[in-house]
Amino acid sequence: MPDTSIGVGVIGLGRAGMIHARHLQRGVSGARLVGVADPTPEALARACGELGLPGGHADYRSLLADPQVDAVIVATPTAYHREITVAAAAAGKHVFCEKPMAMTAPECDEMIAATRGAGVKLQIGFMRRFDRSFVQAKERVDRGEIGQVVQVKSLTHGPSTPQRWMYDLRLSNGPLAEVNSHDIDTLRWFTGSEFTTVYAIGANYRCPDARAEFPDFYDNVLLIGSFANGRQGLIGGAQGVKYAYDARVEILGTEGILTIGHLDDTSVVSCTANGLLRPAVRSWMDLFMEAYRAEAEEFLRCIREDRAPHPDGTDGKRAVEVVNAGNESIRTGRPVDLKPEHKP
Ligand SMILES: NC(=O)c1ccc[n+]([C@@H]2O[C@H](COP(=O)([O-])OP(=O)(O)OC[C@H]3O[C@@H](n4cnc5c(N)ncnc54)[C@H](O)[C@@H]3O)[C@@H](O)[C@H]2O)c1
Repeated sequence: MPDTSIGVGVIGLGRAGMIHARHLQRGVSGARLVGVADPTPEALARACGELGLPGGHADYRSLLADPQVDAVIVATPTAYHREITVAAAAAGKHVFCEKPMAMTAPECDEMIAATRGAGVKLQIGFMRRFDRSFVQAKERVDRGEIGQVVQVKSLTHGPSTPQRWMYDLRLSNGPLAEVNSHDIDTLRWFTGSEFTTVYAIGANYRCPDARAEFPDFYDNVLLIGSFANGRQGLIGGAQGVKYAYDARVEILGTEGILTIGHLDDTSVVSCTANGLLRPAVRSWMDLFMEAYRAEAEEFLRCIREDRAPHPDGTDGKRAVEVVNAGNESIRTGRPVDLKPEHKP
């Protein structure tokens, strides 16, 4: 019988790319991993070794030329997302693109136009929308359990120091993009609205090695936002916090409050002469592992059933607009209005 499963290629074999590649290799229903690409020889060799592949592509373009590849997962540094997505669409491949979608809104427009023009799917990697707790919270909010949502606060603190390319805001757009894109998407999702004005402050407290070469890099950020429907939002971001991976959300309504997230990794608590030990969540990889699988499964179902995926290019673009407005606010020390054409 001919193999009707969807052939998927993974482009970029770092932390995010390997999560997707491992899921595909271990079995995501109706799909098979058919190729990988990364220009860094060590990353490519390591990935092929772990995944049991005979070889990979140093240039993503040769992966795109492989007729076995029906869809690609783009998990390179953000600055390359536009180029690769546009090339994949031109080659007729469906695209799952990691967040942040791109560096600027015009880049997002190009990606949306290219995938629409080619008639291929485009999904953005906001996997929190597929996490069990987030999904349950959204259902409960939509049922009216806490009345009308009035304020959403979302924080993400990561334990590890950023990858070096992330220090360069021209390549990464900074922690607002790399870390807090998820929080931005969460605020849009739970308020059901779009940011209208943002004010942000940032500073570098934990990455002294970035200070000389990248003086505009910040590893701590606060962003306050107002929404078109009158709701309020607050985002906290930090990198290199060491203590745990910490992602928590508080949704305040007219009739109550709902919270998502916790610091405890398990319900197991030990007590010795050294004190009470409650192991904390160590990595986003642990916390959201099943959500990464669920978002990939949804992407593949959308291809099979010819449905429009969500979160889509517009969701990705809205988050990129907020990132850039936040970075502008940090630079200028002033609130930044999102452009009227970007309001709903
Ligand atoms: N959804 C999530 O929670 C999540 C988590 C981590 C990272 N990400 C996103 O995934 C992307 C990658 O981040 P990461 O942490 O995995 O980075 P990383 O530095 O660990 O890996 C990036 C990999 O891409 C490769 N690469 C660079 N240019 C390339 C090109 N032109 N073609 C193919 N490969 C190329 C690099 O050699 C490297 O192996 C970023 O956009 C990041 O924001 C998303």
